[in-house]
Amino acid sequence: MSTPLSTAVDVAADPNWWRQAVVYQIYPRSFADANGDGIGDLAGITSRVEYLASLGVDAVWLSPFYPSALADGGYDVDDYRDVDPKLGTLDDFDEMIGALHAAGLKLIVDIVPNHTSNRHEWFRQALAAEPGSAERNRYIFRDGKGPDGAEPPSDWPSMFGGSAWERVPDGQWYLHLFATEQPDLNWDNREVRDDFLTTLRFWADRGVDGFRVDVAHQLVKDLREPFPDRASLDLDNLPHGSHPFEDRDEVHEIYAEWRQVFNEYDPPRTAVAEAWVHASRRARYASPLGLGQAFNFDLLQSDFDAASFRRIITHNLTDARQSGASSTWVFSNHDVVRHATRYGLPAAQGKHQNGHAWLLSGGTSPELDVDLGIRRARAATLLMLALPGSGYLYQGEELGLHEVGDLPADAMQDPAYFRSQGVEKGRDGCRVPLPWTVDGPSFGFGTGTAHLPQPAWFGPESVQAQDDDPSSTLSLYRRALSLRRKLQAAEELEWVDDLGDSVLHFRRPGGWESITNFGAEPVPLPAGVVLTSSPLGDETVLPPDTTAWIS
Ligand code: NOJ
Ligand code: CA
Repeated sequence: MSTPLSTAVDVAADPNWWRQAVVYQIYPRSFADANGDGIGDLAGITSRVEYLASLGVDAVWLSPFYPSALADGGYDVDDYRDVDPKLGTLDDFDEMIGALHAAGLKLIVDIVPNHTSNRHEWFRQALAAEPGSAERNRYIFRDGKGPDGAEPPSDWPSMFGGSAWERVPDGQWYLHLFATEQPDLNWDNREVRDDFLTTLRFWADRGVDGFRVDVAHQLVKDLREPFPDRASLDLDNLPHGSHPFEDRDEVHEIYAEWRQVFNEYDPPRTAVAEAWVHASRRARYASPLGLGQAFNFDLLQSDFDAASFRRIITHNLTDARQSGASSTWVFSNHDVVRHATRYGLPAAQGKHQNGHAWLLSGGTSPELDVDLGIRRARAATLLMLALPGSGYLYQGEELGLHEVGDLPADAMQDPAYFRSQGVEKGRDGCRVPLPWTVDGPSFGFGTGTAHLPQPAWFGPESVQAQDDDPSSTLSLYRRALSLRRKLQAAEELEWVDDLGDSVLHFRRPGGWESITNFGAEPVPLPAGVVLTSSPLGDETVLPPDTTAWIS
């Protein structure tokens, strides 16, 4: 077995560290609460660095920790160059990054450039200033339609429901593609561009290794009037680059400037784009002249199905090769129903199972097969960790956590819930604070209660309960991540078509193989198994919904 990325490589100085890194996403308010106020904080993360290091991930991606009123879970940023006092201070940040680096872990922070919060100093100034002023020109203000301008400038919807325009007291309207509290910035304004370059340097100077760029595809807008109506806004039906605010070609001029900033550092800072664009357009974001890497959410949007997994893997590896990036893989994050739950629900007719109906039912219907969901999630994750490229994990998936489907209405925090009049349940169910211990006031999350209520079944799923259990999901993740480091090889994959259409079998350079049985029948298993996602009854047979690694 060959080990091209052996420990002899000085990973700290390796400019390519990100290409096949495993990145663990922390949603800071729900990870660990050091001061017992119910909200996760930076000191809590510092206290768990050992856990992250022993898990075996390479980097941590921190969702926003900036001052925020939490109108959208922190994606409404009041100040891009500070820490929310509820989460700590800049000193706490320095301590956290110091501890992560000392443990050999990189840090990626979330940057939210499409919109500020409505409490940002700029937006306060914009509201206090006149229509047409320089202060308003940092945002997107327009006069309304109708005789007294009382109708919004267009019928565009916000992503969270309701209109994308909000009226201010002097009668003008501002654009917010997300919540009302998230006014969109005007990226045609040089001052906005320069300010973000300052922010990137601010964090890069503090040692941050990379950036996750929120809604990277929406910054640039063509707002020439008349505005097209909402019926014609479907990105899939428009010629590439012609949508008024999604995936316009000019957005890459911004990222070319960012790249120059990243390259001022040694090793260059990295970035990964959250860009919901057509697969053929992803390479532009992932270009080495731009952000360098882009999320591909294709696996996250797929059912547990051999043919569609294979199609997705093949396409994305080809695309990544063409862009010069490595591919990214992800099943769960803070915006979607956890994959253990999606895979435990019956496939949706014709669409992928996103758990939407199940969430709306309060987690009762369709019926969730808890064990099947975890079994498939473990198999899928093991497959994913064997793929060339980098894997993004979401906190709690290493415990095999299911979505919390029965949060009471009065606990909800997500604007998607409040703005949609019950059409959406929102994303709180994957953001419930982690269980660290079997019991205790918040299962070890902190010494007090948690800001979202944790269900009783969190105790048996806690880190403490799984720590010493070799059959636990936590033990599987630890073993897989440790083996992955040893087996890691060049970014190549070769399919082996020997076990039928319901099985995905591929080989990486150096003799690392992964076999996943998506079918209903057991299949013969070659010799040399080093890890399986679930225990085998018979060493020569791979049961359904199981992955085996061979080396
Ligand atoms: C994408 C983030 O992942 C999501 O949580 C957020 O609500 C929107 N962008 C708006 O910032
Ligand atoms: Ca706290």
